[in-house]
Amino acid sequence: NAQTLTDPFGRHIAYLRLSVTDRCDLRCGYCLPKGFKGFEEPEHWLTFDEIYRVVGAFTALGVSRVRITGGEPLVRRNLPELAAGLSALPGLDDLSISSNCTRMESLAEPLYRAGVRRLNVSLDSLRPEVFKQVTGGDLDKVLRGIAAARAVGFVPIRVNTVVMRGVNDEEIEDILGYCADNGFTLRLIETMPMGATGQAARDQYLDLQTVRRRLERRFTLIPDILPGGGPARYFRLGATDTRIGFITPISQHFCETCNRVRFTVDGTLYLCLGQESSYALRPLLRDGISDDALLDHLKQAIALKPERHEFNERPEKVIRFMSMTGG
Ligand code: GTP
Ligand code: 5AD
Ligand code: SF4
Repeated sequence: NAQTLTDPFGRHIAYLRLSVTDRCDLRCGYCLPKGFKGFEEPEHWLTFDEIYRVVGAFTALGVSRVRITGGEPLVRRNLPELAAGLSALPGLDDLSISSNCTRMESLAEPLYRAGVRRLNVSLDSLRPEVFKQVTGGDLDKVLRGIAAARAVGFVPIRVNTVVMRGVNDEEIEDILGYCADNGFTLRLIETMPMGATGQAARDQYLDLQTVRRRLERRFTLIPDILPGGGPARYFRLGATDTRIGFITPISQHFCETCNRVRFTVDGTLYLCLGQESSYALRPLLRDGISDDALLDHLKQAIALKPERHEFNERPEKVIRFMSMTGG
């Protein structure tokens, strides 16, 4: 396949984050505030065929990885059918999902059968009260969902923990223990200020370099490379098989190696998580655009990709919530 997508900074775009809904059954304060009502209208949701068209255009341009996100992707009706359709696209060789796992107990098997293999699960606490306080949800249900995913064979399973000062920062070693016991990789994430949730993200922010130094008193951290293509920096813990990853958009950003763009449920392409630049594809799709013209539009969109986020310099800049793109 000769065609590739390269942005103005020479970065190859090979990874699409596909948000299949902006809704979620949880309410993590850093992602979607309580009482939020501004969800996308159903008539603006792309149909599965529209999604296949766009993702197919991306794979024709060299995108080989697709991660299904939300909101919470498992609340989108008939998600296994959508995943199976994506799996069938030529050129796509890594289909993954990021989920809160509240609905995984019943959906693990159909999603696995549909070709989804890698799972990243959001889990900020193993203490039921803290989990409830952060997400509004039921920890037990999530743990059952994760166990179901493990049982049907999702590999690797990575646990995403957003580190919040004064909320779960004392729990990291416990979560690491749970991950080690289950063969999961823990990834710690710095809070990013997005939309009206930005102030809470700044108040709870904890520099992960500090956490890393804390862990280094107990473990030898040996730099490691894991498959995936995302921004985490990984380490192996001493002589064990356990890995830990650090996702540090604030203290040590990774924009020079950015390889991704985001596509939302309403058919908008967001060129950077930490910038508002976007490109609307839905009007083109619904105007009956040709396949060749669609490829040209994707190239034009990639030409708008910003060099990096400005969470540090201009924290008020991004006004959409994280829930629109699912990270
Ligand atoms: P893999 O490496 O494929 O496992 O996935 P990933 O880490 O890219 O995906 P995941 O959905 O698990 O995201 C984990 C965290 O990384 C989330 O908080 C995302 O918002 C964050 N993240 C992922 N990609 C980017 C990025 O390009 N920029 C920034 N700033 N954050 C990102
Ligand atoms: N800052 C950092 N990470 C976030 N996530 C959601 N919102 C934020 C934020 N404001 C994480 C979730 C999920 C991943 C896809 O994105 O915890 O695991
Ligand atoms: Fe890429 Fe923007 Fe994320 Fe930086 S913040 S890694 S440029 S998407």
